[in-house]
Amino acid sequence: MLLSDFIRDGAARLETLYPSPEARGLVLMLCEELLGTMRYTHIVEPETAVPEERFAELEDCLQRLCAGEPVQYVLGVAEFCSHRFAVGPGVLIPRPETELLVAEAVRTLREMDLERAPKVLDLCTGSGCIAWSIALEIRDAEVIGLDLSEIALEYARNQFSAGGAPLFLQADVLDTEQEFPCGPFDLIVSNPPYVRESERALMRPNVLEHEPPMALFVPDDDPLRFYCAIARWAQRFLRPGGVGIVEINEALGEETAAVFHDAGFENVKILPDFYKKTRFISFNVI
Ligand SMILES: C[S@@+](CC[C@H](N)C(=O)[O-])C[C@H]1O[C@@H](n2cnc3c(N)ncnc32)[C@H](O)[C@@H]1O
Repeated sequence: MLLSDFIRDGAARLETLYPSPEARGLVLMLCEELLGTMRYTHIVEPETAVPEERFAELEDCLQRLCAGEPVQYVLGVAEFCSHRFAVGPGVLIPRPETELLVAEAVRTLREMDLERAPKVLDLCTGSGCIAWSIALEIRDAEVIGLDLSEIALEYARNQFSAGGAPLFLQADVLDTEQEFPCGPFDLIVSNPPYVRESERALMRPNVLEHEPPMALFVPDDDPLRFYCAIARWAQRFLRPGGVGIVEINEALGEETAAVFHDAGFENVKILPDFYKKTRFISFNVI
């Protein structure tokens, strides 16, 4: 089968789930990843054929995409901060807006201009995308990531074999008084679960049906539970002069900022994402 025919037929099958350009983009991604072709190969080299021995694998992936599985799970990889993170069912797919949290974290650490290795704690680390991206950017940083999910920790620990790898530990972040013989930290970062159960209706089916609910949802009657916990971790483990940066639910900016004000932090700031949505809060210990 010609590559161009495979792309056309695959995109047509996906158009029941995705708008046409997105459907075509997904098939092109599949070909790039599995066949090593470029997005334009079928145009500039129209005689290119799909090797027969790759057909079964391509068809299997296409069927998973047609069943609504996110392309990152199907391919087993998600791009984040210019790195390729392994992902699969059971671990949250890193989101582009979270890259801004990493950029802010790296800027903050550089501004601290410490004469020793900076220490960073990432609460609710998931795939480890934040922890690893900071560690790969600030090569001497000592980064610790905590998560409750064994599956997420397995992914986080095996992402890269670079030196200076973060340490990933299992812990319930909501258990704020637990013994934790690490720290003090210069920076605490977190992208915790923050979607209210009542906001399910606003989410795409491929997120709802495939990504782990424990990574996403919080009860409507206690939507800020993770921020209250993070504030407590920061009270216990941020050094004087240390900084916290968290990703938040855009609908709860003021309420979330109040959690950090009320916990006694200074310079509590709400920061926007690419779409000017309320997306992050930073705070300091004086
Ligand atoms: C929104 S995801 C963020 C993952 C990753 N930091 C990222 O930005 O892609 C939230 C993470 O919190 C973890 N989590 C949920 N409840 C937790 C708890 N009580 N203690 C620790 N981690 C928890 C989930 O397993 C999930 O990995």
